[in-house]
Amino acid sequence: PRKLILDVDTGTDDAVAIMFAALHPDLDLVGVTTVNGNVPLAATTDNTLRVLDHIGRADIPVYPGLAGPIARHGFPGRLHFAQGTKNDMHGGALPLPAATSSAQPTGAVEFLVETLRSTSDPVTLVAVGPLSNVATALAIDPSIVDAVAQVVIMGGAHAYGNVTASAEFNIWVDPEAANMVFAAGFERLTLVPLDATHQALITRADCAAFAALGTPAGTAAATLITRRIDAYSANHGAKVDQTAPVHDAVCTAYLVRPDVVSTRRVHVTVETIGVHTIGRTVMDLRPNAEAPNADVAFTADKDLFTQLLTAVLAGQSA
Ligand code: BDR
Ligand code: CA
Repeated sequence: PRKLILDVDTGTDDAVAIMFAALHPDLDLVGVTTVNGNVPLAATTDNTLRVLDHIGRADIPVYPGLAGPIARHGFPGRLHFAQGTKNDMHGGALPLPAATSSAQPTGAVEFLVETLRSTSDPVTLVAVGPLSNVATALAIDPSIVDAVAQVVIMGGAHAYGNVTASAEFNIWVDPEAANMVFAAGFERLTLVPLDATHQALITRADCAAFAALGTPAGTAAATLITRRIDAYSANHGAKVDQTAPVHDAVCTAYLVRPDVVSTRRVHVTVETIGVHTIGRTVMDLRPNAEAPNADVAFTADKDLFTQLLTAVLAGQSA
């Protein structure tokens, strides 16, 4: 199995990504690092522990990371989107029993640097929250890029954002961190932006099927994604037709079936100065574009995504 570190701001969709990574037989989840994002750090860490406990994987260590963005501490509303009031978060804690396990005493950044410095196997890094931890680890030791076989990031948007018209949440929260990560020189960096995740929409019928699996993971996924559909429908009305994206899980599905998305090699950088465009991922699609630094997913296969998710929640992934 492929050695994997997951960096999360759990979060209902992060929770599904964690279950996918922890339960898929082709993936060896060696640690989960947490970061400020959907909710404040203490809650993203607690939620991560709840998810792992619930599916019987409390053996996977959880390392708490940065409590805010690397450069924008003073910005109201940026430390976390709106503390615990993100629509699907109902005040912060996921609707799962409190965890009996605890986070590690080691911090996320220290874990990332030490693990990547000492590993003899290639490590895949999947980052599905603001990139504060990853950027800080790179600042401490830029040479760790060489130990990362592949980095997969949920973030950004080409067509339109979700925090502003320009910006997607993970990138908007910590745009300087994102810029550092895109510029770090990873040999394989895959970016999964909203353009792709908005095509892998889960329906209420899919949730009913997950619940019917009768597994702890299936039941949790049904509850959490239903909550996403409720919030998404309340926010967007008929336009989204009782569905919701489960952004972060598209990244974990991509690890085992890269054809769940289709990618294009592109140069990506992040706007950190604009009035209306802070946090925008600027994708250079010109014929004479700058040299590419990422594989960017522009489409996703909803049916394959649902199939992969169902198999892993059932405990039946090949
Ligand atoms: C991304 O932002 C976070 O809130 C979600 O968990 C996802 O990673 C979507 O914009
Ligand atoms: Ca997330």
